[in-house]
Amino acid sequence: MEVAVFSTKNYDRVFFERANGPHNHTFHFFDTRLTDETAGLARGVPVVCAFVNDVLDAAVLETLADGGTRHIALRSAGFNHVDREAADRLGLVVSRVPAYSPQAVAEHTLALMLALTRQTHRAFARVREGNFALEGLLGFDIHGKTIGIVGTGKIGQCVASIMAGFGCRILAYDVQPNDACRELGVEYVDLDTLFGESDIVTLHCPLTEDTYHLIDEATLARMKDGVMLLNTGRGALIETRDVIEALKTGKVGYLGLDVYEEEADLFFEDHSRTVITDDVFARLITFPNVLITGHQGFFTREAMTAIASTTLENITAFERNGEPVHPLPHP
Ligand code: NAI
Repeated sequence: MEVAVFSTKNYDRVFFERANGPHNHTFHFFDTRLTDETAGLARGVPVVCAFVNDVLDAAVLETLADGGTRHIALRSAGFNHVDREAADRLGLVVSRVPAYSPQAVAEHTLALMLALTRQTHRAFARVREGNFALEGLLGFDIHGKTIGIVGTGKIGQCVASIMAGFGCRILAYDVQPNDACRELGVEYVDLDTLFGESDIVTLHCPLTEDTYHLIDEATLARMKDGVMLLNTGRGALIETRDVIEALKTGKVGYLGLDVYEEEADLFFEDHSRTVITDDVFARLITFPNVLITGHQGFFTREAMTAIASTTLENITAFERNGEPVHPLPHP
């Protein structure tokens, strides 16, 4: 089938072309994000392949449907950016990649955690300048600490399994607790207990109406002083302005982010020769105890291979019987 691939980077081309052997789809790669202005590029193309910061609101979906698109193949697990009711109304089938490598995101969460506790990002810069002083690099042992995991699906479970190896007490909150996590020794508690008792809080739930700004002034107030907060889920799980205030008072002692609420205008592009006009983000990166990566949790060879092959399997199944392997759950 013909597939319009939006937000294409060179690495997307490489992995999609490599996975296409058994499928034989024809790709139209567009570097641009899918937005109201660019949706017309897909006119006449039956399948649109979209990524996390592509816009899939009712207006864009209407333009796509009007142009003959019938299937939106998301190359992501999260689908919070899709207006599912509009897609249903327009008869657009939407598929996703529910699991590609939960380990990739879990391990990236650990990369942030370990870098923050031992300040390896700062130590690296110091040593390159011939500065071997340890002042300011005092860390803490993760062993024996309490970690609170919000959302123990595929990624949260991997994090739990890794943290069990570290010898942590593991608390979790999930609307659907997971028996495999209980077997790892995870204690399910309510959110208040999790926030109140955790030294490290890590977010692995989807972004929904219920989880939007889950971390705000009120929930931060319930956390331990100096808590480490990690978010590799979705940016809007956190009210960034409230976290900035909590960083200023020391309530949040460490912040590790792979996602940011307003990331669509920043992430996945090189802005190093331009001025960042997002003042909230600019303030965030001034803190020495904040470590931000640009939504790269998924970015491993294994995950990229699995994303490309599952996306193409969805498209092939849609071509053969009108139903992808992994449709979105209905709203
Ligand atoms: P999953 O669907 O396997 O697990 C999500 C878990 O969250 C489920 O157990 C669900 O019951 C739980 N949940 C739902 N609503 C909740 C609520 N209100 N409170 C607490 N828990 C709730 O999803 P998976 O694969 O583990 O991914 C989790 C999230 O990670 C995705 O939704 C996505 O936003 C994000 N993600 C980030 C990536 C990155 O590159 N940084 C890559 C892939 C996913």
